[in-house]
Amino acid sequence: MNGKRRFKFYILHFVFCISVLIPLSAVAGIRDTKHNLSVSGPGDVKAVSETQICIFCHTPHNSSPAKPLWNHEMTAVVTYTNYWSSTLQSYASEAEAPPIDGFSKLCLSCHDGTVAIGSIISRWEEIIMVTVPGVIDESGKLTGGPGYLGTDLSGGHPISIIFDEALANKRNSAEPPLSRLKWPIVDPDIKLRPTQNGFGVQCTACHDPHENRAVSGWPPFWQKSTHDEACMVCHEAIPPGDIEW
Ligand code: HEC
Ligand code: HEC
Ligand code: HEC
Ligand code: HEC
Repeated sequence: MNGKRRFKFYILHFVFCISVLIPLSAVAGIRDTKHNLSVSGPGDVKAVSETQICIFCHTPHNSSPAKPLWNHEMTAVVTYTNYWSSTLQSYASEAEAPPIDGFSKLCLSCHDGTVAIGSIISRWEEIIMVTVPGVIDESGKLTGGPGYLGTDLSGGHPISIIFDEALANKRNSAEPPLSRLKWPIVDPDIKLRPTQNGFGVQCTACHDPHENRAVSGWPPFWQKSTHDEACMVCHEAIPPGDIEW
């Protein structure tokens, strides 16, 4: 299968899982997190009256054929400022960064502040959210607070990049030597995710949108029990750099 078809296959498989096998564990995990955006949510950002939790991201039915994976209206923004450094091997300049796609685009459709949190595809009307000054405005878009990333992603980890053996070899044979990548990536929690052209790093490499496994509660929505444990799945040592969001 070529990359695009594999991407599509993955998405169809995903939709099948969502529609047929929705596990109750996901409900239990997410209920006490900030991703419970329903009226029962524990965070600042929540609906005025909507009681369903999954609906903000997943569609029960009526999914748009163009975007079968998710229920949230996608961001129209196409220009993000991407991470780049002179030691990065994936792409040669900021301008050559790959377009943001896959699950990262879903995350950013709330977190870049350009689309209302309650703007979903399966309903004609938007879910009305409680306005919180400095966090979420009357139009339902994030404007500040910990969840607001905006469109400048230059301080964050590179995303939507393909991560394959060729990249690992390239980085690991660079002169002078750079912090090394591991290969292959075999881990129950941290998985390479589909991009348009192959499998690679998306937001969901580090974050699990349904729950936080970090024992200290930080980083938020973490795939592993500590910050470093997540990095060490792909890196041989924590690479120097100020990566944060
Ligand atoms: C804030 C957005 C968001 C919410 C809310 C959300 N999910 Fe998800 N869900 C995702 C994303 C993104 C993925 C793909 C993540 C991945 O595979 O790494 C996903 C994947 C899944 C999967 C596929 C299996 C898996 O874990 O990879 C299932 C099943 C699922 N979600 C169920 C649910 C249920 C049930 C709810 C409500 C209780 C829910 N989700 C709420 C974003 C969300
Ligand atoms: C439907 C909208 C929506 C989607 C989609 C979404 N989020 Fe969120 N997320 C939020 C909101 C709202 C908050 C809470 C913001 C606040 O309290 O200021 C949040 C909080 C978070 C936080 C915690 C911030 C903190 O410091 O506590 C992280 C991390 C996060 N999201 C990551 C993700 C990732 C990764 C994805 C994609 C897999 C994603 N989100 C998808 C709406 C969304
Ligand atoms: C390489 C791992 C990694 C990837 C990939 C990643 N993050 Fe994070 N993210 C982190 C870490 C670590 C933190 C905690 C940073 C801190 O506290 O300074 C964080 C924090 C956050 C926060 C909370 C910000 C705050 O100020 O508290 C949000 C929201 C978030 N990430 C969303 C995303 C989204 C959306 C993506 C994809 C576009 C993404 N992350 C990709 C590691 C990652
Ligand atoms: C899913 C695999 C994966 C995970 C998990 C991961 N990384 Fe990365 N990271 C990569 C890849 C691939 C690159 C791109 C390397 C390149 O292009 O040279 C990269 C690049 C980086 C870079 C930039 C290197 C440069 O030369 O500019 C830093 C810094 C970094 N990662 C830090 C982290 C930290 C910190 C964590 C944990 C919070 C983390 N990474 C988790 C795969 C991962």
